[in-house]
Amino acid sequence: MTDLTEGLALVRAYHESRPSWLVGNIGYHDARFLFTRAVEARPSVAVEIGTGSGFSTGVLCSALAYAHELGLVGSDFEVVTYDVSERFYHDPSRAVGDAAREQLPEALSRHITFYSPATALHLGERFGDDEIEFLFIDANHGHPWPTLDLLAALSHLRPRAEVVLHDINLPSLGYAGAGAKVLFDCLPVEKEVSTGDEVPNTGSLRLPEDKEGLREELWRIALTHPWEAHVADSVKAVLLPQSAEGEE
Ligand SMILES: C[S@@+](CC[C@H](N)C(=O)[O-])C[C@H]1O[C@@H](n2cnc3c(N)ncnc32)[C@H](O)[C@@H]1O
Repeated sequence: MTDLTEGLALVRAYHESRPSWLVGNIGYHDARFLFTRAVEARPSVAVEIGTGSGFSTGVLCSALAYAHELGLVGSDFEVVTYDVSERFYHDPSRAVGDAAREQLPEALSRHITFYSPATALHLGERFGDDEIEFLFIDANHGHPWPTLDLLAALSHLRPRAEVVLHDINLPSLGYAGAGAKVLFDCLPVEKEVSTGDEVPNTGSLRLPEDKEGLREELWRIALTHPWEAHVADSVKAVLLPQSAEGEE
C-alpha cells in the first residue's frame, strides 16, 4: 500500500484553492477517493468522461503527477478528458475544463488533453482495444447514460481496469439521476466506495479478467431499469443489441 499522506495534503490544498465560480464539481471526499484510486492504480493515462468545470480533471492530473514523484508512473503521464459540450454548462462564458487550467501550473496542465464536444463514443479515435487502465465517469447521470458510457468504453478498457463512478447515490442526496447508482449497485464485480461522507457518492469498479462477458450484463442493466434521459437512435444502434426496444 502506497503512503499517500503528502498526496492527501495536496488534495486538501487543491480543494481549498478551488475557484469561487465552481459548481457541480466533485466534493472533497470524492476528490480524495479519486486521487487515491488513481495513484494506487498507477495508470500512465487516465480517462475522464464528463470534464465539467475541470476540477476532477485537475485532481486526476495531480494524482498522476504524485504517482510520478513516487516513481509509479513515467514522466509522460496524461489525463484525457471528454465533454459533450465545449462550454461549461453553468457559465457559458467559460470553457469546460477551465478550473484545471486555472488551478494547475502550466507544467502540469499540459499533461491534460481536452476533447469537446466529444463523448465516450469518440474513445475509439484515440484508443485501441484493451488500452485504458483507469476511467472516471461523471457525465450524464440519468439512466441509462452511465451504463452506455461504460458500454462505449468496454472494448478499450483493459481486463482488470478500474472504473470510478461519481454520483452513485444521487437520489439519496435528493437529486435526480439514478444512472450511476443503478450501474454501481447492479454490476457483479469487485467494488469499493468513498469514505468520509455520511452517504458515499463515489465508487470504484474493478473489471473482471473476462471483461467481454460484462457486455450482456450491461445491456441487461440498461434495458431493465426505467430510462431517465433521452438517447438518440444513432447511439442506441451502436451500443445496444439490435433487438432492444429503448425506453424513453
Ligand atoms: C457534473 S459535470 C462533471 C463535473 C466534473 N467532474 C467536475 O468535477 O467539475 C457533468 C459534465 O458531463 C457533461 N456530459 C453530459 N453528458 C455527457 C456525455 N454523454 N458525454 C460526455 N460528457 C457529457 C456535461 O456537459 C457536464 O459538463
